Amino acid sequence: MEYVIGIDLGTSAVKTILVSRDGIVYHEVSKNYPLIQKKNGYSEQDPEVWVIETMNALAQLVNEAPVNPSEITGISYSGQMHGLVLLDRDNQVLRNAILWNDTRTTSQCMRITEEFGESILKKTKNNVLEGFTLPKLLWVQENEPEIYKQVSVFLLPKDYLRYRMTGVIQTEFSDAAGTLLLDVVKKEWDIEICEKFNVQPEMCPPLVPSHHCVGPVLPSVAEKTGLDINVSVYAGGADNACGAIGAGILSPGKTLCSIGTSGVILSFEEDQKDYGGDIHFFNHGISDSYYSMGVTLAAGYSLSWFKEVFARNSSIQSIFENIDKIPAGANGLLFTPYIVGERTPYADSNIRGSFIGLDSKHRMEHFVKSIMEGITFSLYETIDFYRSRGKEIHTIVSIGGAAKNKEWLQMQADIFNARIIKLKNEQGPAMGAAIIAAFGSGWFESLEEGSKRFLSEEDIFQPNDQNVKKYKELYRLYKKIYVQTKEINEGLKEYRNTK
Ligand code: XUL
Repeated sequence: MEYVIGIDLGTSAVKTILVSRDGIVYHEVSKNYPLIQKKNGYSEQDPEVWVIETMNALAQLVNEAPVNPSEITGISYSGQMHGLVLLDRDNQVLRNAILWNDTRTTSQCMRITEEFGESILKKTKNNVLEGFTLPKLLWVQENEPEIYKQVSVFLLPKDYLRYRMTGVIQTEFSDAAGTLLLDVVKKEWDIEICEKFNVQPEMCPPLVPSHHCVGPVLPSVAEKTGLDINVSVYAGGADNACGAIGAGILSPGKTLCSIGTSGVILSFEEDQKDYGGDIHFFNHGISDSYYSMGVTLAAGYSLSWFKEVFARNSSIQSIFENIDKIPAGANGLLFTPYIVGERTPYADSNIRGSFIGLDSKHRMEHFVKSIMEGITFSLYETIDFYRSRGKEIHTIVSIGGAAKNKEWLQMQADIFNARIIKLKNEQGPAMGAAIIAAFGSGWFESLEEGSKRFLSEEDIFQPNDQNVKKYKELYRLYKKIYVQTKEINEGLKEYRNTK
């Protein structure tokens, strides 16, 4: 039997899965790592920790799996998007990576938008947002000129990991699309944007497609992990592109809801579209197609933050106890998940979250239910946007943490007013990475065929009419919170950096 490995380099952990030629996940190993948050709004990680933990995960995966390493023929990657890794002339890392959920770059975003905003939107199909890579490059230019002077190339997180495993520096289109430096339709680095912002074109890594074969692993990696020296490494994709591949979002009409640290509603796009930058528009992992999406910055992160602060000694499962007994609306408690600012539909790094309607009768389960509802309302704003543009959304494939919880799947059906599909053996972006490796290895004619062969439905959740009605009314109230708390949060900004 032949096998492939999918590696998902996430924000809180790296996950590795071993998948057989018939689509069975034989083994899975994850390793966690922390965020480094030196100041309010900062979010960094040490790239060396990604490498160490991936090596640990792979060594354990290869060691524990009941297969011969020579049967593992391909590896590919999914990675958290937009993160900036800077390398010097000797390919040494110059500083911690600045991540997608770091919001320090508001003034750089304003500068880019003022000087070149319309052009950037036309070329990159996206508005300038704090999370993207170009503003991070400008932040380093302005604030750490000594470091910037030494930069020879920048990489995205999974591309750095792949470089350390193969010795080859490259990126691929789906991740390059999130930098604000790629002409998304021409699929080339945009020299005009580079020149305008003093980014030497040589700093941009060579571009390849997701299924491109990068080469074998380095002998030192084979030795550390037990992988065969001949295993082929394929380029991989951005985590949202891989999430979409791993959920079969590879043809028109397909929509995905993914709830991990961030949350996304993502729709396949056959051709280039102009959403005016209101939602993101990126290259997909399959050649010459795209996807659009809206992002809730703190989706699963809102729950993990809440657990960490208010239920540190409980397990994550136990905080969901009794939520099935709480009716829609959490007994009058509404939550907005803006705890690190927001992206869609409000690109606002200054907004912060709220609990509205606190009552002395509220207990743990009301808070947890209102957080789940708030995250889901926030994602619904993207569905609402699509529907207002005439896109029909009847069925949504749900992946990520929320897809493991039946209550939350039913809540998605009720808030989205759509059929929700739960996949059998759902592995999120790691499965997308495994499908890329399998396609690269020649197991299928296309990624679509791969996802059809590897994926099957486990359950379908239909909207409950009564709850749909209730949630419509609650959504109307939820939408008012942003507007009515925006100014308050502007006033609170100056207090945020104090300890
Ligand atoms: C997408 C985004 C996040 C990260 C999370 O634009 O910033 O979804 O990719 O890993």
